[in-house]
Amino acid sequence: MFAGALGFPKRHARVTSFAGTISRHAVYGGFRAFGAFNTDPKLVGFSYGYTCVPGRWWRETIARPLTVEQRDYWLADAFELAELHVHPAAQGLKLGGQLHDQVMHGLPHQTALLSVMHRSERARHLYASRGWLTLVDEMRFPTEPRTPFSLLGLALSGQWSVVSGQWSVVSGQWSVVSGKFEGRSAFRLATAE
Ligand SMILES: CC(C)(COP(=O)(O)OP(=O)(O)OC[C@H]1O[C@@H](n2cnc3c(N)ncnc32)[C@H](O)[C@@H]1OP(=O)(O)O)[C@@H](O)C(=O)NCCC(=O)NCCS
Repeated sequence: MFAGALGFPKRHARVTSFAGTISRHAVYGGFRAFGAFNTDPKLVGFSYGYTCVPGRWWRETIARPLTVEQRDYWLADAFELAELHVHPAAQGLKLGGQLHDQVMHGLPHQTALLSVMHRSERARHLYASRGWLTLVDEMRFPTEPRTPFSLLGLALSGQWSVVSGQWSVVSGQWSVVSGKFEGRSAFRLATAE
């Protein structure tokens, strides 16, 4: 199922090592997982994640390109959405969306983080429609150096506020809207007029 969802051959290293990986992840603090089954019943999709803690390679890798401010906010109390996959035969039936919503529901964290491959169009659409923000547009992992990923983050608690009406001139006129989350500067959107 995992190989099919990712389009990897069954002997690909990420597939053959996955049983060991998930066994290791299943004992991490905050681990939660959901499965989708067909009527056989056979597993056709799953999602899982756990508390993101310092010292693990994924976290250390994604932390590198972040600014100090971003690290302070996004890594302080984060959930790591490690995997979300649906077998190709069952894709497009809203299972992925439900698996996402289940695993994220009621999380006791401030933020959530995940990395998504550039080529996973459907996944990117799913995350964008659920409010995930792109924190780093392109990054590589040493395990898959030829595959570009994006790092996404989702704010799970607190208050968003938009501070608008700032103007700056950068060759023509730009409308700049700044957003704050819990009083910290969280985003700036610039639109050319
Ligand atoms: C990404 C994945 C989990 C989504 O599961 P799914 O059951 O196919 O997704 P859903 O049917 O719930 O649709 C998800 C969203 O994608 C949209 N979508 C459907 N087909 C699409 C397409 N061809 N291109 C872009 N978006 C598409 C849907 O409209 C839906 O958006 P909405 O929730 O805002 O309505 C699944 O396609 C998958 O496993 N892909 C391969 C592995 C992968 O990329 N995993 C993610 C790793 S981070």
